[in-house]
Amino acid sequence: PTEERIDLLLKQMTLEEKVGQMNQYNGFWEVTGPAPKGGNAELKYKHLRDGWVGSMLSVRGVKQVRAVQKIAVEETRLGIPLIIGFDVIHGYKTLSPIPLAEAASWDLEAIKKSAQIAADEASASGINWTFAPMVDIFRDARWGRVMEGAGEDPFLGSKIATARVKGFQGDTKADLSKVNTIAACAKHFAAYGFAEAGRDYNTVDMSNSTLFNIVLPPFEAAKEAGIRTFMNSFNILNGVPATASSFLQRDILKGKWKFDGFVVTDWGSIKEMVTHGYAKDGKEAAEKAVKAGSDMDMESYNYVSDLVQLVKDGKVNESLIDDAARRILRVKFELGLFDDPYKYCDEAREKAVIGSKANNDGVLDMAKKSIVLLKNDKNLLPLKKSGQKIALIGALANDKNSPLGSWRLAADDNSAVSVLEAMQQYKENKLTYEKGADLTIEKATFLNELVFNTTDRSGFDAAKKVAANADIVVMVLGENGFQTGEARSTTNLDLPGLQQELLEEIYKVNPNIVLVLNNGRPLALPWAAKNIPAIVEAWQLGTQAGNAVAQVLYGDYNPSGKLPMSFPRNVGQCPIYYNNYSTGRPNMTDNNVFWSHYTDVEKTPQFPFGFGLSYTTFEYKNLKINKTAFAKGEPVKVSVEVTNSGNYDGKEVVQLYIHDEFGSLARPVKELKGFELIELKKGETKTVTLTLTEKELGFYDNDGNYLVEPGTFKIMVGGSSDKGLESGFELK
Ligand code: IFM
Repeated sequence: PTEERIDLLLKQMTLEEKVGQMNQYNGFWEVTGPAPKGGNAELKYKHLRDGWVGSMLSVRGVKQVRAVQKIAVEETRLGIPLIIGFDVIHGYKTLSPIPLAEAASWDLEAIKKSAQIAADEASASGINWTFAPMVDIFRDARWGRVMEGAGEDPFLGSKIATARVKGFQGDTKADLSKVNTIAACAKHFAAYGFAEAGRDYNTVDMSNSTLFNIVLPPFEAAKEAGIRTFMNSFNILNGVPATASSFLQRDILKGKWKFDGFVVTDWGSIKEMVTHGYAKDGKEAAEKAVKAGSDMDMESYNYVSDLVQLVKDGKVNESLIDDAARRILRVKFELGLFDDPYKYCDEAREKAVIGSKANNDGVLDMAKKSIVLLKNDKNLLPLKKSGQKIALIGALANDKNSPLGSWRLAADDNSAVSVLEAMQQYKENKLTYEKGADLTIEKATFLNELVFNTTDRSGFDAAKKVAANADIVVMVLGENGFQTGEARSTTNLDLPGLQQELLEEIYKVNPNIVLVLNNGRPLALPWAAKNIPAIVEAWQLGTQAGNAVAQVLYGDYNPSGKLPMSFPRNVGQCPIYYNNYSTGRPNMTDNNVFWSHYTDVEKTPQFPFGFGLSYTTFEYKNLKINKTAFAKGEPVKVSVEVTNSGNYDGKEVVQLYIHDEFGSLARPVKELKGFELIELKKGETKTVTLTLTEKELGFYDNDGNYLVEPGTFKIMVGGSSDKGLESGFELK
């Protein structure tokens, strides 16, 4: 019936109204007040009334959404409702950890739940479409947008993409019409995460092998999970801006994958084709974009300005407009907007849902699961609950804004629980706090460049004094919450400002330091990795950040996270990733320099992908494969015994890596192809069985064909990508 309803509607629509569906405008002002002077607000209102707008983004709150929806529904000729988009990236008002942190949990249920909470709050605020999940794979910590994704690995990335899509949209297509689900958007299609040198919006130059095997799988997984929209990307690929790529959008997405939702462009990416030097003007850009399958124009104004004329001039076939409008209308029907355009506009629900206790409990749970213990020499952690003198140092320890991270447009400033506030709840210890040094000088916001404090050391002495008098020093250091995110690329992965200096000064007076890192990207901390006995990766954990950190430090929660991205030894190693190729000279053989390495630093990362400790220890033994040789199509069953051999109950992520030893194309030295998160009481042993099928054993050739080739495979099973038990089998 949906298709019939669309047919009926399309028949009534003028060409202008169909193009109108393809036009998306940004809100960003109080739409219930007068339109601001200057800018395009007045024009946008006019277009809205004329039925020339199909979607708005960044209008939020029931009152505001109702106001624009009312214009679309009550003042336009056909009363077609708007679809309201928003960047709900890691929660709406109650924030979850940044997506990279969530990925460190490897806990697909928890990640799904986190997206459900985000959808619940966003939909209660009038929103019915999020520009998430970002499923870009990336390998370069210099790129600021690593905070928004699931890390460097396509297998983990695909599983997380599925979890996030289902969290936002529900498990089935029918769930999308529920009031607490929203349409999701897989972005940025494609290859945006490989911007050269980690500089945002930069050129991408990529092999087909990387495109098909690394970049596209999470997008395909999102499609398979039923995602209803895709967003294309700013970059060029083989000289073609993604927005104009028929290869990506028509051949792969809408052709091979049979995607029947719609594609929205990234902000202004149609008009940027002129700057790329790919279109001579906006009109030609619109023509190229629509022909390539970009269905909705986000803030380029090119469709609304030129598409009608392009059709009239015979340059664009009207069937392309019909197809794009049909796709957009389809998602609106599926959301139930035609049945009730105000279904997301319920003030009572808005009040009850946003910031609820249940949502706060949910994001706290996610936050604890996202923490990764990187080092714990001398079992400094967990802290004792009484009788310890603890010095807490670092501006970030008393910061209620930074832990919210970037991309949190609806959250209130300073709404996170700080580490200081949370540690003060453990009253049996003597806690003293000193900031040591400010991190930034001016207020950091989503829009401005950050200015770090590099001169004011006036707080050093006080910090040293409390450190000298303490049994244990907890230092919370890292990045400002707005240091990562869009357009936040860097050439430096050290601790910014005076933090490294402060750390070394404190170490001189008391080396019993627990370093708690707050960061949105992997940092390079060779000095700390060598000298500091305990390091806790606590990312930017959202609204409940401080509580999560305190519960982990005090052992109320045993950390179980594993890194979703390699942490380099220094920035010069970037891009660095575990699933690299062998090269012809991977190791030194003849005692000379002619092998693939650096002359100044080891080539391995500081902390590898998949790595993370626990307060307990796990032993792996009895790795078994059910046979030694398999016919094509036969499942390979890999089992291993894991024992909790330490003193705490805990969780472990059992990881299975394969290496296809010889192929018609060289294959990576290791590829993650299975994992399971298990919980073990102390002393308990469990047998974990992971299965490899053709889906895991094959790869894409350079034309995008999927091959499963006979040959020998090595496998490795363990708690990290750098070591584990090994075995092998043959595929006949
Ligand atoms: O969703 C984002 C995208 O990821 C980057 N450019 C702007 C869009 C809308 O805010």
